[in-house]
Amino acid sequence: MNSFFRVIELRSGEPVLTLKRCPEPTEDLIIIRPFLVGICRSDIKEIQGIRKHRSDFGHEVIGRIEWAGKLQSHLKGDLVCINPNIAISRNSGFAELIFARGEPALLSKAILRVVGNSPVETLVFIEPLSCAYHCISSLRSHLKLTSLNGLSIGIIGAGMSGTLIGLVSKHAGAKVSVFNRTMGRLNFLQERNVFVKNELFLVGEQVSPTFDIVIAATSNIDPAVMRFAEDMIKPNGLILLFGGTTRGEVFPDTDLELDRIRRQQELMIVRHHDKEFRIGGTYESNSFDFVAVMNYIEEFPQYYPLNRLITQIISLDQAPQMLAEMAELQYINYGKILVKIDLGNSATT
Ligand SMILES: NC(=O)c1ccc[n+]([C@@H]2O[C@H](COP(=O)([O-])OP(=O)(O)OC[C@H]3O[C@@H](n4cnc5c(N)ncnc54)[C@H](OP(=O)(O)O)[C@@H]3O)[C@@H](O)[C@H]2O)c1
Repeated sequence: MNSFFRVIELRSGEPVLTLKRCPEPTEDLIIIRPFLVGICRSDIKEIQGIRKHRSDFGHEVIGRIEWAGKLQSHLKGDLVCINPNIAISRNSGFAELIFARGEPALLSKAILRVVGNSPVETLVFIEPLSCAYHCISSLRSHLKLTSLNGLSIGIIGAGMSGTLIGLVSKHAGAKVSVFNRTMGRLNFLQERNVFVKNELFLVGEQVSPTFDIVIAATSNIDPAVMRFAEDMIKPNGLILLFGGTTRGEVFPDTDLELDRIRRQQELMIVRHHDKEFRIGGTYESNSFDFVAVMNYIEEFPQYYPLNRLITQIISLDQAPQMLAEMAELQYINYGKILVKIDLGNSATT
């Protein structure tokens, strides 16, 4: 075991690579050695200081158990990922080692053994894909449907979430149209052969109310995004809130709180501008979603061209500057950037 490890911490809103002493491997500890860690929009929001309600910096992790303590569900060498929705105490995932503490039952739920033989570059998508999978499960549950065959889904926001939701929707049999406010991401997805041209559209293009379902997956579901969703949705259709919502913001002319609907995964009926439709929410993901997604990646690679979404693999040394530039909007990236953690860089015993 190393005596020191390097970890990127947020200090006054700045990502800083620091050398820290490793805690003693006690029985209440789990230690993970990450290989790859994806950079997520929420990491950038944490740096920008606009993600006040929770912190899970560096959570798209794929790594191996280095020390399992007294946890009987895990063994040294197990391949694992992290479910950041379970409250445990740990350091940032942008690190050579992750030291996690918590109730054993919570640790078992938060640190999930990965099944399958897919390359780690695709397994690192388990966490973001689990949110997309959960989104489609929430949709099925709101609609009380087991199949989405034949339904038309419009997704607003062609970022990583919108893209993964689009892939899960297509796998579930829906006809998918992905909308984005600027062309860059649409071109990227077409060039990378993730979606075809006639599945990709600009927000603001003339739309008619022909969509059974509209999923709002933008960083911020602002009033313009909601207006566009309302224009697209069929009478009695369902607008599903996935992207960022702000506490207190209401749907126009109603007292329906969008943030509450999303986080509580509620379903409401709205009548607005002579059209009746539903607004529902989807939030986070759970162990079932993680397990389902592991199987999807293994069994259906044709539906999940995840490696085509990777734009860069950088080192832990390069990551602080990349994270800072992304937070200051100096670096625009359309796909997934992965941080590769090389083994044994820090001082060892
Ligand atoms: N419900 C959940 O459980 C859950 C889970 C994970 C993530 N999320 C949330 O989902 C959101 C999207 O995440 P992501 O990973 O897809 O982010 P991302 O890859 O950075 O993409 C952000 C997307 O939002 C668009 N956008 C940003 N501001 C917009 C605006 N004012 N109007 C229209 N479009 C706008 C961007 O369009 P441009 O290309 O034009 O910039 C881009 O398509 C985040 O807020 C994240 O917190 C929710």
